[in-house]
Amino acid sequence: MAETDLRDKVVVLGGGAKNLGGLLARQLGERGANVVVHYHSDASAPDADKTADDVRAAGGEAVTVQGDLTRVADVRAVFDAAVDGFGRVDVAVNTTGMVLRKPILETTEEEYDRMFAVNSKAAYFFIQEAGRRLSDNGKIISLGTSLLAAFTDGYSTYAGGKAPLEHFTRAAAKEFADRGISVNVVAPGPMDTPFFYPQETPERVEFHKSQAMGNQLTQIEDIAPIILFLATDGWWFTGQTMFPNGGYTTR
Ligand SMILES: NC(=O)c1ccc[n+]([C@@H]2O[C@H](COP(=O)([O-])OP(=O)(O)OC[C@H]3O[C@@H](n4cnc5c(N)ncnc54)[C@H](OP(=O)(O)O)[C@@H]3O)[C@@H](O)[C@H]2O)c1
Repeated sequence: MAETDLRDKVVVLGGGAKNLGGLLARQLGERGANVVVHYHSDASAPDADKTADDVRAAGGEAVTVQGDLTRVADVRAVFDAAVDGFGRVDVAVNTTGMVLRKPILETTEEEYDRMFAVNSKAAYFFIQEAGRRLSDNGKIISLGTSLLAAFTDGYSTYAGGKAPLEHFTRAAAKEFADRGISVNVVAPGPMDTPFFYPQETPERVEFHKSQAMGNQLTQIEDIAPIILFLATDGWWFTGQTMFPNGGYTTR
């Protein structure tokens, strides 16, 4: 029952313009998939256009769609773009997230609300809409963080904001199981992208590196294949959180 082929499959990629999402879009294009490249800010529009061009050049099809996924109407519009453009949805991957490293005593109400809107609310309604729109035997994959398996300071609203994803995922895995839809969280270690560095000091970056094999950060090239695996041969995983991180944290 394993689905090894992504050719002509329709993939909705939340945050598909750049970094991990951008690489994933290109690799899906190489496999002949049809990709909805969602992007958020106006600043990400050129990345989304370039990524979509690269998907087409690699042999896939692509459309871009902008949206603030903290708004449920925008989440629905991203899935509408898939159905309007390609007729159905087979795989939904949500790479969106927002990071903040700040002591609890200094965190404002606005920061809390924003962090939970992006990391929890958007993730929840992405899973809900995927559950409504996916074909039978579809796949839903959300991006967590290896901080879900850490005991550390500073990341209360980031790790805390991502934590509910595990329970959303478990519930969805049970609720969508009769349609053969698998639902999982991929929770990488600190990744070498512009998302990570602004929250950290150079000394702390070195500490993070020291906690993984080979004294290095997680590379997006090591995460994208795991997501592709879950979308294909790895279909028997469901309701799980995976920690690809070179040994940085575990539980
Ligand atoms: N880098 C790391 O250290 C690390 C480690 C573990 C897990 N992760 C997770 O991996 C995922 C990908 O991260 P990345 O490193 O590849 O960085 P990234 O490209 O900056 O990913 C975050 C994405 O979320 C989008 N986003 C932010 N607010 C949004 C909103 N309101 N609505 C819709 N989209 C929104 C961003 O778009 P704009 O930039 O246009 O706002 C961006 O495309 C994230 O979920 C992150 O939490 C990252």
